[in-house]
Amino acid sequence: MSGAARSDRGDREAALFVGLMSGTSLDGIDAVLAEIGELGTRLRAHARQDFPDALRAELLALCTPDHNEIDRASQAGNQLARLYASATRAVLDAAGVAPRAVRAIGCHGQTLRHRPERGYTVQIGNPALLAELTAITVVADFRSRDIAAGGQGAPLVPAFHATVFGSADEDRAVLNLGGIANATLLARDGAVRGFDTGPGNCLLDLWIQRTLGKRFDAGGAWAAGAAPDPQLLGRLLDEPFFAQPPPKSSGRELFNAAWLDRRLDGALPPQGVQATLLELTAQSAAGAILEHAPSAARVIVCGGGARNDALRGRLAALLAPRPVEASDSWGLNAEQVEATAFAWLARCTLSATPASLPSVTGAHAARVLGAIYPA
Ligand SMILES: Nc1ncnc2c1ncn2[C@@H]1O[C@H](COP(=O)(O)OP(=O)(O)OP(=O)(O)O)[C@@H](O)[C@H]1O
Ligand SMILES: [Mg+2]
Repeated sequence: MSGAARSDRGDREAALFVGLMSGTSLDGIDAVLAEIGELGTRLRAHARQDFPDALRAELLALCTPDHNEIDRASQAGNQLARLYASATRAVLDAAGVAPRAVRAIGCHGQTLRHRPERGYTVQIGNPALLAELTAITVVADFRSRDIAAGGQGAPLVPAFHATVFGSADEDRAVLNLGGIANATLLARDGAVRGFDTGPGNCLLDLWIQRTLGKRFDAGGAWAAGAAPDPQLLGRLLDEPFFAQPPPKSSGRELFNAAWLDRRLDGALPPQGVQATLLELTAQSAAGAILEHAPSAARVIVCGGGARNDALRGRLAALLAPRPVEASDSWGLNAEQVEATAFAWLARCTLSATPASLPSVTGAHAARVLGAIYPA
């Protein structure tokens, strides 16, 4: 990844950080150990931790308002902290690194609500317990300060995307295909913009889980076996979020089962629905890049959706002649970009460096993000 070679030549400021990401897909935890300094970021190890089915079901339930949420969310937060601690141990063991050698953990937490328009966002994961269990300083709650400063609190990864994927030679776009998809637009003059484009994998996962009981459509093979339905696609694309100008962010509050069910008419075979949902992700994301960054010379994709070959194929067709490349070809595994970003954001917090980008979130000014739980 960018800066890795320079980092090898010695970077006095470099320190080890753990990044923990568990996103809206509710697929589990990605943990990375990264060596981060002024000169760049070098990945040392990666570990995955799946959610037990009962916890995944409870987290999904907690994303929708229901009864006794405070006790249930607190208990789920404690269980998450234990899993975050075990993912941290796994990544440190993989690298043969002791906890005391780690400067901090950057822990995104699990989003249960994201309502910037009402002035709040909620990520659970009991960072105090995580600090207690790991004996490592934890930085958490990265989004709240940006919302307090008038921003969307999301996306926060564009600043990191700029450090690793930015180029003085050409304009570029980075597309993160998580549960929700977000685009980062990197101009060669250094200007950075970014926003959520809409659903990434969340509706694709929801539909194949409901109809075939599978967690996701591997490679997009099921979707690729049918044609998208133009009428349904039209109803889905009518969603006002897609036409709304940035800054904007989204989540399961909008793109959920109820949203989809209101637009289905029951006439289409299930595989056709899957094909249409894939086309929705591709058209909404590619359309946003073409509208807001027509000069982008290439599109770098990351997130689990980068492993969906059918989706990658549709994006490449819609964005042609621009190459659409997984971040792996830029030295950073597509599934580890987000976790690495939160390791990088934790370093910004500890050095009191403002890491939010008002050009992305719409905040009045950049702020130091995160809350620190000392080891
Ligand atoms: N081989 C694959 N084929 C198709 N889809 C895949 C494959 N591997 C992963 N995915 C998709 O990627 C999703 C997980 O992506 P990721 O972890 O980036 O999302 P996330 O946890 O929501 O993260 P975030 O919200 O931070 O962007 C899975 O739920 C699945 O839909
Ligand atoms: Mg994930």
